[in-house]
Amino acid sequence: MYFYLMKNFIIINGPNLNLLGKREPLIYGDQTFEDYFIGLEKKYPALNLSYFQSNIEGELIDKLQEVGFKVDGIILNAAAYTHTSVGIGDAVKGITVPVVEVHISNTFSREEFRHHSYISPNAKGIVLGFGLKSYELALKSFL
Ligand code: DQA
Repeated sequence: MYFYLMKNFIIINGPNLNLLGKREPLIYGDQTFEDYFIGLEKKYPALNLSYFQSNIEGELIDKLQEVGFKVDGIILNAAAYTHTSVGIGDAVKGITVPVVEVHISNTFSREEFRHHSYISPNAKGIVLGFGLKSYELALKSFL
């Protein structure tokens, strides 16, 4: 008998990314993340994709701990917490599932405070600057 095990990937989005579509469209585009995610699910029907967003630092840490020993890959855009959160950085360090750090914008072409990341030292890799497509590129890195 043939068993096909679907791989599990989760996208975790941090603060203000629930506003995609209406937040600073010149930087972040005009599509909602929900619409983008539906397109991604359609394009990769053989993958089990899930999505979590929170504006709350501790909820992001709870989610990383919850999935961080059981899924096949995590795509993390910690948004502003990227630049401030030792706690999220420690969570990424403490879990075993590989994390790809993602940013919609090219953070290095923006203000200097966006140039530092507490995620990067423990990320498997980083994809940034390609708009929402950054998430798909991160997903492809796992395949
Ligand atoms: C962001 C970049 C961060 O500097 C910013 O705080 C965000 C979004 C991005 O995806 O480009 O909220 O992570």
